[in-house]
Amino acid sequence: MDKKIFNAVKGKIRKAVEDFSMFRREDKILVALSGGKDSLLLAYFLKQLGYSPDGLFIDLGIGNFSALSRDVVEEFSRRYGIRLHREESTAWTGFSIDRISGQYADSVCSVCGSVKRKIFNNFALKNGYDVLLTGHNMDDEARFLLSNNRKWNWAYLKKSYPVLGAKEGFIKRAKPLVYVRESQMLRAVKYIDVKPVEDPCPYSRDGNQKKYDKIFDAADDGFPDFLNDYYLNFLRNYSFLSGYADETILKKCSICGDWTTSDVCKVCRVGQGNWRKKIDNTDGDVI
Ligand code: AMP
Ligand code: FES
Ligand code: ZN
Repeated sequence: MDKKIFNAVKGKIRKAVEDFSMFRREDKILVALSGGKDSLLLAYFLKQLGYSPDGLFIDLGIGNFSALSRDVVEEFSRRYGIRLHREESTAWTGFSIDRISGQYADSVCSVCGSVKRKIFNNFALKNGYDVLLTGHNMDDEARFLLSNNRKWNWAYLKKSYPVLGAKEGFIKRAKPLVYVRESQMLRAVKYIDVKPVEDPCPYSRDGNQKKYDKIFDAADDGFPDFLNDYYLNFLRNYSFLSGYADETILKKCSICGDWTTSDVCKVCRVGQGNWRKKIDNTDGDVI
């Protein structure tokens, strides 16, 4: 067993939690568990560090993929003594991801992301949690940063941070894996007894993710540690964004009451068959 990788990942999680004041011992912690290696390992290492997080799995209604993911998360939670909440996305939104996939074929992942954020946020608030954690690792975050950097989208650049504090209607959110590379997660995964879901979601044709990975691979070839430098130097210089005041005006969705930028939030508009990517990909999607 490669004890080095175990200690390295554990140490990086501990450091991220401290550096960004993600949560305290006494906080009520909720980890979003998808069944993939990152979120399972996150919960596993938090237990190793002496925390007692609860888990939340969202069944998005994606055929076998959701059923398989659910089995994995349930087995993992049983094995490691994690109290697991299971939520059906249809109960929150009125539609499954499979059902809207025909209508919004070009943007299923974007709709799915909004559905997940809506449920993460409202479930955590309703059930008295202090913080919601997701399993995004450094490679995920660097990709997200580069896509926002490409457009110099200031509001989204400001959100490309490992912790976003609570405000009215929004739970505190944190990403304790931001110091851990994808390659390290792949090596560390043998420490959990449960085999994570390996097959990708059937909707993740995911052109963009692969394109950004190619950019970073090429950059890493020319400049060793390019991705690390790019992301970590952003974090070190994050205060340069402090002068940027997000002037987005939020109002309550007239259907579900969530905070949004338009009269009706994106998820409710999808439910009405009314949301179109071409209008504005981020329209109504504020978290
Ligand atoms: P993804 O956007 O699929 O790369 O997932 C990023 C993170 O979101 C994962 O590491 C999980 O923490 C969380 N997540 C994704 N899908 C689900 C799900 N169905 N249920 C609970 N959490 C999820
Ligand atoms: Fe959401 Fe694939 S997990 S579209
Ligand atoms: Zn709504």
